Amino acid sequence: MLSRPDVLRRTGGRKVAEIIYDEATIAAKVKELGAAITAYYDEGDLVVLGLLKGSFIFLGDLVRQIERPLQVDFLVASSYGAGTISSGEVRLLYDPQTRLEGKHILVVEDIIDSGATLERLLRVLGSRSPRSLSVCALLDKGLVQEPPPEIRFVGFQAPHKFLVGYGLDHAEEFRHLPYIVTMS
Ligand code: IMP
Ligand code: MG
Repeated sequence: MLSRPDVLRRTGGRKVAEIIYDEATIAAKVKELGAAITAYYDEGDLVVLGLLKGSFIFLGDLVRQIERPLQVDFLVASSYGAGTISSGEVRLLYDPQTRLEGKHILVVEDIIDSGATLERLLRVLGSRSPRSLSVCALLDKGLVQEPPPEIRFVGFQAPHKFLVGYGLDHAEEFRHLPYIVTMS
């Protein structure tokens, strides 16, 4: 059980079980991803689409490591319907204002768990005639049986634990932690 004073100040005294990825580890990985993305896109317009809210910190760090022109926009997606059983639809609560047709689209996601939301989102975005469609996820729990080929950039193969921090929340808490942790 970790009781670093800065951790306790940030969590309001709630104890963190383990720091899974610290600031330096995350920064090194984001730099690596930025370099891979820079190398991947040769020519054409690039739109980086952050999936809110979870990607907000990752996106901010990532775009500063991409050394080519790009535009930033955001997406807010929600599974359609009530209750916990997914209807298989995805609704865009905020739809990017940027024109996507003929452009490279890079969707930035915090973590891929079941991959269900992302899969449906890819179908919606794919129908807008982009020049290419790819996903960059910081974390992947490795649970998707047949991952779609669009998942091109992945930071960490994450443990099968509930993670918070660096954008990831539990009931909207802990997004502001500069590290990724498990709570005890
Ligand atoms: P999926 O549709 O099952 O892949 O769900 C992915 C979404 O669930 C992510 O964008 C997160 O918002 C949330 N999520 C999945 N795993 C975790 C976790 O370990 N911590 C925090 N949020 C998670
Ligand atoms: Mg999310």
